[in-house]
Amino acid sequence: METIADALESTPLSEERLGAVMAGRKLGFPVRYFPEIDSTNLLAWRLAGEGAPEGAAVVADAQLQGRGRLNRSWISPPGANVYVSLVLRPLIAPAAAPQLTLVAGVAVAELLSGWIPAGVRIKWPNDILIAGKKACGILTEMKSAAAAVDFIILGIGINVNMNREDFEPSLQETATSLKIAAGRPFDRLEVISALFSHLETWYRVFLSRGFPGVRETWLRHADILGRPIRATFKEEARTGVVTGIDADGTLIMKDTAGIIRRVLAGDIQLAKE
Ligand code: BTN
Repeated sequence: METIADALESTPLSEERLGAVMAGRKLGFPVRYFPEIDSTNLLAWRLAGEGAPEGAAVVADAQLQGRGRLNRSWISPPGANVYVSLVLRPLIAPAAAPQLTLVAGVAVAELLSGWIPAGVRIKWPNDILIAGKKACGILTEMKSAAAAVDFIILGIGINVNMNREDFEPSLQETATSLKIAAGRPFDRLEVISALFSHLETWYRVFLSRGFPGVRETWLRHADILGRPIRATFKEEARTGVVTGIDADGTLIMKDTAGIIRRVLAGDIQLAKE
């Protein structure tokens, strides 16, 4: 039976096609493809535990238990979107691992800006918005020993060919897709191929220069300096203005009492959003 994706795509997803496009790449090879899976992150985690090399990838057409940050779920219907996970084995300290979320954010923002010239923005730490609505989420999960990372699973979900009415009603005001933003459908094989090359470019920058090599591009795409935000610290919410991002990727804000605070985890919102 023909799916929405077959009708739209000149080259529907398959392990054979993905393997041919990714052959020999540092990130994205070897690649496994599943028409349906619980979660690409879960399988990539298992494969990494069994010794999968850096760059190994898991791609799915649909996820039954797509996972988001902070125990949220990632709605993952078939035939329309991109759900991928990569195994990374960087020689970095566990404390530096969250920086990879920011690195991946830069790679995705650069990729999407090439197709959608206005309105692509990184929302710290892991969302990519288009015209203020979420088009992509990034979930990094790490296995580490005391001083070193064993592996990191970098999971990325991009809403590609969803129409507004394909999103469940609760998401229609907050989520978008490449198709909605660009007014045309996208070939998912091309999206995945371009995504993995952008990730490879920025991962190499990160490995050679650390987060400082990525910082300026991150700031340009995040467009957050000097903006009023509301950040949640444990149970407490504070408002303030973003004054920068550290060399290690920690967001810095000055709160309304004039106290400088480092935002390591949790959520932030632009105060006027
Ligand atoms: C978030 O915005 O909270 C992160 C969402 C990450 C979703 C992707 S889809 C591919 C990979 N597999 C998962 O189960 N989650 C990530």
